[in-house]
Amino acid sequence: MVGQDERAPFAGALERARSAAYPAGQYVGQESFVLADEVRRLAGSAGIGPGTAVLDLCCGVAGPGRLIAAETGCGYLGVDRSAAALRIARRLAGDLPCRFVQGDVPPLPDGRFDVVLLLETLLAFPDKAALLHAVAGALAPGGRFACTVEEGRPLDAVERRRMADADTVWPVELPRLAALLDAAGLAVTWQEECTAAHHGTAAALLGAYRAEEAGIAARVGPRAAAELVAAHELWVTWLGTGRVRKFALVAEKR
Ligand SMILES: C[S@@+](CC[C@H](N)C(=O)[O-])C[C@H]1O[C@@H](n2cnc3c(N)ncnc32)[C@H](O)[C@@H]1O
Repeated sequence: MVGQDERAPFAGALERARSAAYPAGQYVGQESFVLADEVRRLAGSAGIGPGTAVLDLCCGVAGPGRLIAAETGCGYLGVDRSAAALRIARRLAGDLPCRFVQGDVPPLPDGRFDVVLLLETLLAFPDKAALLHAVAGALAPGGRFACTVEEGRPLDAVERRRMADADTVWPVELPRLAALLDAAGLAVTWQEECTAAHHGTAAALLGAYRAEEAGIAARVGPRAAAELVAAHELWVTWLGTGRVRKFALVAEKR
């Protein structure tokens, strides 16, 4: 079986289904439910423009990061624990002025940044307090943290058993997140709910993965393909019922 971290087989196996699933113009290499226009709105709300120093945490192959760097002219540093993902990110970035560094977050790379981005991965951090303190420490005064959030109560035992890689699925309720941001010295300045859009994306991805499951299984193994489909079935249910809601937000360092 191929593990999710062996990114090249996964990226290759899923590329056709992913590019078919997103609405026209909205697929930019993201490994998540976020749409290109949502990335643009979040970047605009965080004040990313020419010369803004941006740190993109858990960038993966950096579809959203490459979009932001290309369209805004910001300075861009992406960080991810996956060397395989970063090899793909570097190749796809081509001549864009993007830098990438491999590492487990936290800690964050040295330096001060105007904006720290975290797209579609806050969910993976069980200890969000430690992460948010590290984010605040990497921001210049007035700097902004821009992220997407999987909002909801923690998974129960039944839900954990049904979700592959449940050790990377830690939703957080909004009041708890607001308190954690506040304790880290970050004040929310902008927030937008995107549950309906992400439910639509999850459903479209599920349809595309089901249609291509045999071909995906041939490249990543039947177990990984089945887990991919099962995980998307859960996300479609959770986002469709409001069990988990999605938000994009910007918080400014006080
Ligand atoms: C769901 S993907 C999202 C990638 C990208 N942000 C996007 O929206 O397309 C999550 C990424 O986070 C990385 N990751 C998860 N936890 C991490 C950690 N603690 N430190 C560094 N990278 C991490 C994974 O390797 C993976 O590439």
